[in-house]
Amino acid sequence: MSSYVITGVSRGIGFEFVRQLSENPANTVFGLVRDKAAVESKVAAEIGRGNIHIVEANTTDPEALQKAAEYVAEKTNGGLDYLIANAALQAKTALVGFDTLSKDPQALEEDLIAHYRVNSIGAVHLFNTFMPLILKGQGRAKKVIAISTGASDPEMTLKADVFQATAYSMSKAALNMAVAKFSAVYRRQGVLVMAICPGAVDTGSLQIESEEEGKLAVAMFAKFREYSPTFQGPAKPEDSVKSVLGLVDKATVDGGYAGVFISHTEGKPYL
Ligand SMILES: NC(=O)c1ccc[n+]([C@@H]2O[C@H](COP(=O)([O-])OP(=O)(O)OC[C@H]3O[C@@H](n4cnc5c(N)ncnc54)[C@H](OP(=O)(O)O)[C@@H]3O)[C@@H](O)[C@H]2O)c1
Repeated sequence: MSSYVITGVSRGIGFEFVRQLSENPANTVFGLVRDKAAVESKVAAEIGRGNIHIVEANTTDPEALQKAAEYVAEKTNGGLDYLIANAALQAKTALVGFDTLSKDPQALEEDLIAHYRVNSIGAVHLFNTFMPLILKGQGRAKKVIAISTGASDPEMTLKADVFQATAYSMSKAALNMAVAKFSAVYRRQGVLVMAICPGAVDTGSLQIESEEEGKLAVAMFAKFREYSPTFQGPAKPEDSVKSVLGLVDKATVDGGYAGVFISHTEGKPYL
């Protein structure tokens, strides 16, 4: 039996993690969300399995995370096998670059802070809060995973002058460093901490509404194709999550994966 805590399971990749991991009735899957009632209804209607627990916790709120950890510990006898930091913010400011964003310095600063709060600092709070559970118990998997993005790698930006997704990319680069720092503390205690890019995945996360936003999104995808001419468009969440979980299973703390940031394919390009 394995236990999993995953953040941001209301939709997209997080929801698919819950769906796939709960397929094994021996697993216990805890999904952390901001709107418990809404996600519980969705999970009941679309997955409907008794081994799923939906727990309310905004990942930017350490007290809420602590309460969530207490709930999980009660159900698992104190331990936890896998922790997946999946929740993230990618605001529509991702569609433009610093030249456009520079027109409103205050809004730019707020946008940067909002992304850092969720994408980097939220994961730091999450890891700190649940680490005692991960450390508890012999023979457990002890795997702590951050879902990152190839956009955080300067190489991708530089290869095709990808000017978009400024705050998102910066905050995920900080997340990758946090992963390395957590690994530096916990690797010797047998904890694998690593960051994985799931590839481009069709989750509608940017929630494109207007014609103008549509044009900007097309321009961003053109950049992705310039970076990776073989890029065929985003993958289905089920395929991406299957591949990420394959790597999570395979990766070991002594196998060269400790503290690294890599693609789910273990290669480049990310797309
Ligand atoms: N989709 C892609 O192409 C792609 C590519 C590379 C990396 N990724 C990474 O993969 C992960 C999932 O992406 P996705 O496309 O599935 O994203 P998504 O559809 O936008 O879902 C994001 C999830 O994060 C939750 N969330 C946001 N802020 C939160 C907070 N403060 N506390 C708790 N939960 C919060 C959202 O919950 P609410 O419903 O409450 O808003 C939602 O469940 C992210 O880390 C993303 O950066 C995605």
